[in-house]
Amino acid sequence: MGNLNREYAGSIEIAPSILSADFARLAEAIDAVEVGGATVLHVDVMDGHFVPNITIGLPVVRSLRKATSMTIDTHLMISEPGRYAVEFVNAGANMVSVHVEADDHLNRTLTSIREAGAKAGVAINPATPLGTLEEALPYADFVLLMSVNPGFGGQKFVPTSIDKLRRLRRMIDDRGLNVRIEIDGGIDANNIAEVCEAGAEIIVAGSAVYGGGRPTEAVRELIDKATVWV
Ligand code: DX5
Ligand code: ZN
Repeated sequence: MGNLNREYAGSIEIAPSILSADFARLAEAIDAVEVGGATVLHVDVMDGHFVPNITIGLPVVRSLRKATSMTIDTHLMISEPGRYAVEFVNAGANMVSVHVEADDHLNRTLTSIREAGAKAGVAINPATPLGTLEEALPYADFVLLMSVNPGFGGQKFVPTSIDKLRRLRRMIDDRGLNVRIEIDGGIDANNIAEVCEAGAEIIVAGSAVYGGGRPTEAVRELIDKATVWV
């Protein structure tokens, strides 16, 4: 933070979560964020078993695919994700993440996602140690670090996530792996710079984008604040 030059890190992408949008007006909701500069659409799939909420599934992903050329990122908060991961790729998802806590055969699931033609991600809850990712990292294209306990939008950012993010960045870089980091939960214009500086590259934001009723402007503000001090 030496001088006043700010630099937008070009590899950072904003991924609005449609969980906080009006599900009856999804087409409008996704157009609005694309106009604002978002490149990834984050789709939260919940089964009422792995997490205490039920949201959307394959038919909605198929419809979204027809409605946008943005990258579709499906976050599977479901038990036994290996049973469905490839179906989400076939429905049009470009990125599919599965939880380390939910899958006994993670390397197999990640490989199947890649073979089906999408980027394979491993998602990890706030209380799950990073060591559980160790053997799966070479099979992953990205890690989805949860900065809230999954299940609902609009929760408060878990502060220990910053240190965990830094350690994950180091873990990936030390191994010379090409694995991107996505962060999800409680991100807004006040803390986006800090998570970018700590090593996150794909930034999910739900309530910060759709909660205020001006999604285009909200995405622009996040991009503006996603700066790294040089
Ligand atoms: C939480 C979901 C998130 C959620 C983020 O379980 O995985 O993607 O939509 O919402 P905010 O940004 O409001 O925390
Ligand atoms: Zn999510």
